[in-house]
Amino acid sequence: MSQRLVLENINKNFDQLVAVENVNLTVEPGEFVCFLGPSGCGKTTLLRIITGFESPSSGTIRYDEKVINNIIPQKRDFGIVFQSYALFPNMTVEENVAFGPRMRRMPQKEIEQRVAEILRLVGLTQWKTHYPAQLSGGQQQRVALGRAIAIKPRVLLLDEPLSALDAKIRIHLRTVIKRLQKELGITMIYVTHDQEEALSLADRVAIMRDGRIEQIGTPWEIYREPMTKFVAQFVGTSNFIEGIAKDDHVRFDGKTFRVEGLSGEDGQGVHLAIRPEKIRLLTDKEATSAAHASNVVSVETEVVTFLGAVVQITFLLDGVDMNVDITEEKFEQHAIRRGDVIQLYFPPDAFHIYPKTSSAG
Ligand SMILES: Nc1ncnc2c1ncn2[C@@H]1O[C@H](COP(=O)(O)OP(=O)(O)O)[C@@H](O)[C@H]1O
Ligand SMILES: [Mg+2]
Repeated sequence: MSQRLVLENINKNFDQLVAVENVNLTVEPGEFVCFLGPSGCGKTTLLRIITGFESPSSGTIRYDEKVINNIIPQKRDFGIVFQSYALFPNMTVEENVAFGPRMRRMPQKEIEQRVAEILRLVGLTQWKTHYPAQLSGGQQQRVALGRAIAIKPRVLLLDEPLSALDAKIRIHLRTVIKRLQKELGITMIYVTHDQEEALSLADRVAIMRDGRIEQIGTPWEIYREPMTKFVAQFVGTSNFIEGIAKDDHVRFDGKTFRVEGLSGEDGQGVHLAIRPEKIRLLTDKEATSAAHASNVVSVETEVVTFLGAVVQITFLLDGVDMNVDITEEKFEQHAIRRGDVIQLYFPPDAFHIYPKTSSAG
């Protein structure tokens, strides 16, 4: 028996508008999957299709080997948490959490045990007799989480549950959610437009764009090997260079970089992407003896930003703003100030290459 959730060729149109296009996805039991993408890319629609509040225009949804397309939401036994807490205002914290189990006519004693356990997990034991209006936003969302898991859902679906909260509480609640998932071994699907949230929480991230899943993988895979320019742009920071490929080089605006991994792009336009931490700061001496001299450029530092252990330096390359991240230690060694000219090395193997003809414009 495999309690997998499988989406096969899911499409959803609203009249002319294609909200979800040909989505295929398998979520393993106990897995934490995030749908990450900009506003309007179809995340909520896809989640609503899984919950059963929306039916797909075509495609099959399976859970535990059974087709569930025609099963109503209440019978799917999936828990749901929205951005708005939607708590019962006239019920205490305890009563809110007990609501689901009560509706399912669970024995009173079991309900009490379950509620106590959940309040402990979400850290609300001391607030159990309070009403929602007496709680902060973060506490209310913890009640909503508790209420959703009280029915022991087979899958917990969360739609931007933290977006209404301020940064500090958001980060704290991430930990609460991750702990819940670990302790309960529950399958979770979590929708967000916040890449940091997705990368920190998920086992696998599905990057969505215009209704499609553009790439799916572990956070590390997505960060390391973004398959399209869109993903390289959306996840983490990338610097982009536009040029023409020729043999193992890319030429742009009078400069030429040696680039590893080019194949079949000869004479064609390409976008190169390079992460800020991959560009290296050289001393003048290192610059003159670099293995690939063409990949060394002199630039003027425009902005210096301290980000704690890392210092980010913004510079212009052919009129485009770019960033290089260097360690605080290196920053001090080089005694860099705004306006200084520095030598940067773009390693030939540090680029991702995207053909200019790709849809990822
Ligand atoms: N009930 C609906 N009727 C018509 N269009 C809708 C409906 N729900 C969503 N859409 C459209 O579908 C697209 C995807 O929306 P949504 O799934 O809410 O995106 P996201 O959650 O990623 O912001 C948007 O263009 C949105 O306007
Ligand atoms: Mg949404």
